[in-house]
Amino acid sequence: MSAEPASTHDAAEVLARCDVLAGISAAVDGIERSYLTPEHARTNWTVGEWMADAGLAAWQDAAGNQRGSLAGPTADAPVLLLGSHLDTVPGAGKYDGVLGTIMAIAVVGRLRARRIELPFGVEVLGFADEEGTRFGRTLLGSCAVAGTWDDSWWGLQDAHGVTMWDAFRAFGLDPSRVGEAALEPSRVIGYLEAHIEQGPLLQDADRALGVVRGIMGARRFELEMIGEAGHAGGMPYGRRRDALLGASEVVSAVEVLARDAGAVGTVGKLRAFPGAMNVIPGRVEFSLDLRAESDAVRDDVWREIEETARKAAAARNLAFEVSEMHAARATQVGKSLALAVEAGIRATGDAEPMYLLSKAGHDAMAIADLCDYAMLFIRCKDGISHHRDEAVRADDVEVALDAFEWAVLELAGYNS
Ligand code: GLV
Ligand code: MN
Ligand code: MN
Repeated sequence: MSAEPASTHDAAEVLARCDVLAGISAAVDGIERSYLTPEHARTNWTVGEWMADAGLAAWQDAAGNQRGSLAGPTADAPVLLLGSHLDTVPGAGKYDGVLGTIMAIAVVGRLRARRIELPFGVEVLGFADEEGTRFGRTLLGSCAVAGTWDDSWWGLQDAHGVTMWDAFRAFGLDPSRVGEAALEPSRVIGYLEAHIEQGPLLQDADRALGVVRGIMGARRFELEMIGEAGHAGGMPYGRRRDALLGASEVVSAVEVLARDAGAVGTVGKLRAFPGAMNVIPGRVEFSLDLRAESDAVRDDVWREIEETARKAAAARNLAFEVSEMHAARATQVGKSLALAVEAGIRATGDAEPMYLLSKAGHDAMAIADLCDYAMLFIRCKDGISHHRDEAVRADDVEVALDAFEWAVLELAGYNS
């Protein structure tokens, strides 16, 4: 019997592992892994094996995050956090979240292979829910780690009416123990996350890597227009209460109002009820994802959208209802951590690393309530993400591993 080949902790291995996780999906024709599902459990088990292979003590925490720790020189040594998320949107690509988590494991594997003694412990986190696909509320895994889990989330339901509470129990987790996932802020040095850019700026600038300077603040809403269903032929225009026409005015206004303010707004979900060709839509449920560099701008745009929606509803004799599912403040990176990432990129030969604002959300937004964070961005093909065509170059991943490892060594004082 031949022994397992030793792990290489290089780009080829990292990309092969991304391929393995792409095979763990609830959908046969694409990648879909949401929170507290059998795919989540299989992913954690697989990633746990890779963590153990890199020398990390692996476990699943009380919120379903997959974690691995490398002890520091003393029992009370501070801890550097590395990681990203393991869940996906429906119809996802292979790299969003997954690449950063597997890179973090590879960097620990490299440091161990080189017998580097760090002055701190390291914890690698594979967050369980960053996308918010199942329950509408996002950043669940990282909020649990940051100690900002909110008990009002237990009643949130998925598309089949399963509550978060029941989903925890079905997954084998005890909801009353979720607080045990939280880290003590005084123990933590900071958090570093590597992630694909999910935009085209690095490619346009012909660069493999970039340093994040901050992450846009975001709010997400579930919206509803309520009118009255009726016959598509018989009901005269003057008497219709068509909820879809009201919602359409809002959808169009979102683009104009967000764009004019330098924000980004997206209606990604919309369902008309009862949903028949010959019935006037009596009710429409739709979503809104709103982001901006400043929370004040984002909130102003929301006020304008809400006013537009209320006016459209009044003009068409509709009711308009709002529930806010998620709010995360705009954040700036921690300076010394970002400088370590910058130094890592410089060490790969890029003399003037590019700084970027992240318009995508990341676990770092929630972890910002626990400690400082910094992020390394990796070029992705044509900026495509949240799509099956997401792609990265192997040579970019190789330099990203070098830069990420360098950043950890920089924080450990090895490079000076
Ligand atoms: C996460 O991918 C987000 O930005 O929505
Ligand atoms: Mn994503
Ligand atoms: Mn992501």
